[in-house]
Amino acid sequence: MTSSGNKRVIGLGIVGLGGATLSMLPKFAKNAGYKIVAAADIDKDVLAAFNKDFPDSKTYTSVQDLCTNEDVELVYIATPNRFHSEHAITAFSGGKHVLIEKPMTIEIPGSIAMIEAAERAGVLLGVNVKHSFEPRVQKVREMVRIEEFGKLRLINSWRYVDWLYRPRTPEELTPEWGGGIVWRQAPHQLDIVRTIGGGMVRSVRSMAGIWDPERRVPGAHATFMEFEDGAVATSMISGYDHYDSRLLVFGPDALDPLKHAGARRELRDSLAGSAEADAAASERYGGDRAGAAVRETPGLGGGWIMGGPTVISFDHADVSFSRNGLEVFSDTERYEIDLKGPKDGRDGRLDTYYDAIVSGAPLPADGRWGMATLEVLLAIQQSGDERRELMLAHQTGSVD
Ligand SMILES: NC(=O)c1ccc[n+]([C@@H]2O[C@H](COP(=O)([O-])OP(=O)(O)OC[C@H]3O[C@@H](n4cnc5c(N)ncnc54)[C@H](O)[C@@H]3O)[C@@H](O)[C@H]2O)c1
Repeated sequence: MTSSGNKRVIGLGIVGLGGATLSMLPKFAKNAGYKIVAAADIDKDVLAAFNKDFPDSKTYTSVQDLCTNEDVELVYIATPNRFHSEHAITAFSGGKHVLIEKPMTIEIPGSIAMIEAAERAGVLLGVNVKHSFEPRVQKVREMVRIEEFGKLRLINSWRYVDWLYRPRTPEELTPEWGGGIVWRQAPHQLDIVRTIGGGMVRSVRSMAGIWDPERRVPGAHATFMEFEDGAVATSMISGYDHYDSRLLVFGPDALDPLKHAGARRELRDSLAGSAEADAAASERYGGDRAGAAVRETPGLGGGWIMGGPTVISFDHADVSFSRNGLEVFSDTERYEIDLKGPKDGRDGRLDTYYDAIVSGAPLPADGRWGMATLEVLLAIQQSGDERRELMLAHQTGSVD
C-alpha cells in the first residue's frame, strides 16, 4: 500500500482486460483510494493497448505472475466465469485481496473454496455487484429497513433486451462455462432484488428457456422467489431482441423503430462464423468496438438499472425506479425522489471495499453474499429443469 497526501492508496492489479474492465477502469482511475499498478491478460494485443495508456503499470500474461508484484494489494478479476475460482485462489495464495466479477463462480464447491482460501490467507473477497450499491437500490433498501411505508410485500423486475444476439464469445454461448443470460445477466438483477429484500431468499420456482436452436444457451428466465419474511419477488429477462423494456421506462417514443432488431440483423448480415467471436473480442481493451457493451439509452442514460421497470410494493406505497431516482405512489400522493449525484453503484462498490481494507469496515457483497446469489442462479436452472420449487440453504443477509 502506498499513500497520496494523507490518504492510503491501494495498489490494484487487473486480471482480464475485456468488457467488464472497460467499464471499471475509469472508476478505478479517478478514485483517489486506488492506483492501477498492474494488469494481466493472455491476449498480448489488449495488453499492448493497455500498456500504451498506462505506461507506468506492469503487464503480465498470467495471474500467477501478476500476484508476485508486491505493489499489488487488491486484484480485480474479470476473466470468464469458469476461471473465477482458480484465479481468485491464486490471488489469495499471493496474499492479495480480491474483487471478483459476478457471478463469483459457477458452482457451490468452487465458491466455498474461494471463501475458505480468503479466510486462510486473512484477506478479503468481494463481488463486483455494482447495482446493489446504486443510490436507487440503497434508498429503497432503507425504506424497507425503516418500514417507511409499512412492510415490504413484492418486488417486480422486468427486462427485455437484445443480449442473445449481440456479438458473443464462445464462453458466453456455452452454458457449462457460465454462458447464457442466467449466468451473465441475472446476477445483476438478483443483486438488486436480494439487496432490497434483505438477502434471505427462502425458495425459488423458475424457468430458464433455450428457445433458439442456433444459440443453445438460456436466453430468458422467469423466476418467482419468496423471502424468509414472506415478501416475494418476480423477475424476468428475455434477451431475444424482440420487445425492448426501455419503452416501459422512458416512454413509447424513446427508441428509434428503424433500429428495431438491430442486433439480430447485424449477426445475420455481417457476423457469420468466426466473425462473431472476432467482433466480441474487439469489444475488449483497445479493440475497434471497445465500449460497445455499455448500453446507455441514447439521450436518456440510465444504464443497466433502467433497462426495464422495477416496482417495489409496500403496505402503503408502490415505489418505482424513475429517470431521476425513485417515484413514490403512496396512499395519498405521488412524488419523485431525486437521487442524481456524482456517484453511481460502481463508485459505491469501490468506496465500500476501500473502507473495508483500510478501516476494517464490514465488507458488503462479500464472498458469502456472492455464494447466496450463485445458489439462486443454480436454483433458477434446476427449478426449470425439474419443474418444481426449490428450498435454499446458503443465503445470507444484507450488510445495512
Ligand atoms: N459488472 C459488470 O457490469 C460486468 C460487465 C461485463 C462482464 N462482467 C463479468 O466480467 C467477466 C468477464 O466478462 P467480459 O465480458 O469482460 O469478458 P471478455 O471476454 O470481454 O474479457 C475477458 C478477458 O479475460 C482474458 N482472459 C481469459 N482467460 C484469461 C486468463 N487465464 N488469464 C488472464 N486473462 C484471461 C481474455 O483474454 C479477455 O481479455 C465475467 O465474469 C462477466 O460475467 C461484468
